[in-house]
Amino acid sequence: MTLFLFALACAGGDPDPDAGSDSTDTTPSPTDTTPEPTDTPPVPTDDPPVPTDTPPTETGTPPTETGTPPPPPTGPLSYDTDVRPIFEAACVNCHMNGETSGSLDLDLGVDALVDVASVDLPSMVRVRPTKSENSYLWHKLEGTHIDAGGSGVKMPKGGSLTPTELTTVKGWIESGAGP
Ligand code: HEC
Repeated sequence: MTLFLFALACAGGDPDPDAGSDSTDTTPSPTDTTPEPTDTPPVPTDDPPVPTDTPPTETGTPPTETGTPPPPPTGPLSYDTDVRPIFEAACVNCHMNGETSGSLDLDLGVDALVDVASVDLPSMVRVRPTKSENSYLWHKLEGTHIDAGGSGVKMPKGGSLTPTELTTVKGWIESGAGP
């Protein structure tokens, strides 16, 4: 009977439960994430300075009358305005200031020209308004006076008119040969 009790005692020995097996200590997960930057870079509030001094606007207007030739006259031409300056430059030595070569005094203007018979060619007038081909003056300037039946030399004697001047004289005749 004693052995039985002994065996009971030995069998009842319960091993100690391992106290350290239940480790509840886990590695702490990182809870703090990277902090959001709350400081935004400073927005520049200073606008670039607007210049308040406007440049001066009246520094002299550009010249408007440089280089462009005046437009050709469109209306009827005038002897005194358009033709006389040409004749004063080219004919004065022989037909003005008391000189009356060919009995032509250009100081008289239209009175010496318009519907006045030519000396060289009495059947033709010196200037027939609107008809340069019937004007002996025009034939003398063109050099067609011989073909027209006249005589003498081309005018201006010893010189010449520019194409522009010839156009002006012809335009004066064609536009009515006004004074
Ligand atoms: C250097 C002198 C001289 C100059 C300059 C001259 N003439 Fe004469 N002109 C004469 C002489 C001289 C005559 C007469 C002989 C002849 O018809 O060629 C004449 C004749 C004329 C006649 C003919 C007149 C008629 O009734 O038949 C006309 C028109 C005329 N000239 C126009 C002009 C004009 C316009 C100019 C200028 C653009 C001019 N002449 C410049 C010397 C000149």
